[in-house]
Amino acid sequence: MADFKQLVFSGVQPTGNLHLGNYLGAIVKFVELQKSHDCIYCVVDLHAITVPQDPRQLTSSIREVTAAFIACGIDPKAHIIFNQSQVPEHAELAWVFNCVARLGWLNRMTQFKEKAGKDRENASVGLYAYPALMAADILVYRATHVPVGEDQKQHLELSRDIAQKFNNDFSEWIARTGFGDAFFPLPEPLIQGPATRVMSLRDGTKKMSKSDPSDYSRINLTDDADAIAKKVRKAKTDPEPLPSEEVGLKPRPEADNLVGIYAALSGSSKSAVLRDFGGAQFSTFKSALVDLSVTRLGPIGAEMKKLTGDPVYIDSVLADGSERAGQIARKTMDAVKDILGFIRH
Ligand code: AMP
Ligand code: TRP
Repeated sequence: MADFKQLVFSGVQPTGNLHLGNYLGAIVKFVELQKSHDCIYCVVDLHAITVPQDPRQLTSSIREVTAAFIACGIDPKAHIIFNQSQVPEHAELAWVFNCVARLGWLNRMTQFKEKAGKDRENASVGLYAYPALMAADILVYRATHVPVGEDQKQHLELSRDIAQKFNNDFSEWIARTGFGDAFFPLPEPLIQGPATRVMSLRDGTKKMSKSDPSDYSRINLTDDADAIAKKVRKAKTDPEPLPSEEVGLKPRPEADNLVGIYAALSGSSKSAVLRDFGGAQFSTFKSALVDLSVTRLGPIGAEMKKLTGDPVYIDSVLADGSERAGQIARKTMDAVKDILGFIRH
């Protein structure tokens, strides 16, 4: 396949509270990748409205996710931070992809099944078509690498299928338009490290999520030291001391989760954490985890508060990012129109 310039893209929905799962599964990777790649990070507001949103709340959530990106260390000047709805090419390419993706592919998406629940007839068409919009987000920049948590793996596979089918269906026109044997790259998911799926603090078999009714199930990026300490101390555990080897975590989802969180926050691995804490009681381990969490998350929460207090600055970051993202997206969309045979001036 043709050689594509390496480019990182990822998105976070502006819905509810950003939590430790978003941070360790995604945002930490976003920050790291800035050193080695050009990066585009998007607040995906068009995805948010696939389920009902209160407009006032949505506005503040968009600003909050933007603030989190910056507070965690993403540089909006060296890279791009923007909100999806300011670059109309996302929705435009998504329509094209709605016509490329097959019903059978979308029918397999587990996130749709979970989110639609029992009353599927009443789910929005947008919720169903969500993965085609996600493919458009990535491919409108012809991005090659996508850092995400484990829960997005299936959507990434669908993005690759869409890219591949587009490349195949239009191969002749892609070649004639001067793009060689492939117009879209097949984007690679980057799902690595000890915390690609952070679980609820109340139930080690459930994903930590923005929508869990219990605030004790998650650590929010805006939680203060007190709240973090309370939540970690109350986190569900079992009565055994920690094992010394990683295999010992297998039948113990809560222990596995807390060790994974510690490893990710300290930039080490589960086995390294168990070398230090194997044989320790949870009370000892939890105290260390509280200290580590407060050290890592405290400054982020404080910076987020400062940034969200200055919406004019946040909005200017989004405007500037959207402008730069739009320039790339427009080029792709022009080429797509040529490949499809549309007329444009
Ligand atoms: P969302 O909040 O659904 O927009 O997710 C934003 C990013 O955080 C995506 O890359 C998700 O895969 C990731 N993410 C969300 N929840 C978790 C979790 N519990 N563990 C790890 N990653 C997560
Ligand atoms: N679907 C992702 C989630 O819920 C968010 C998202 C939208 C995304 N578009 C994307 C992630 C493109 C990576 C790339 O977490």
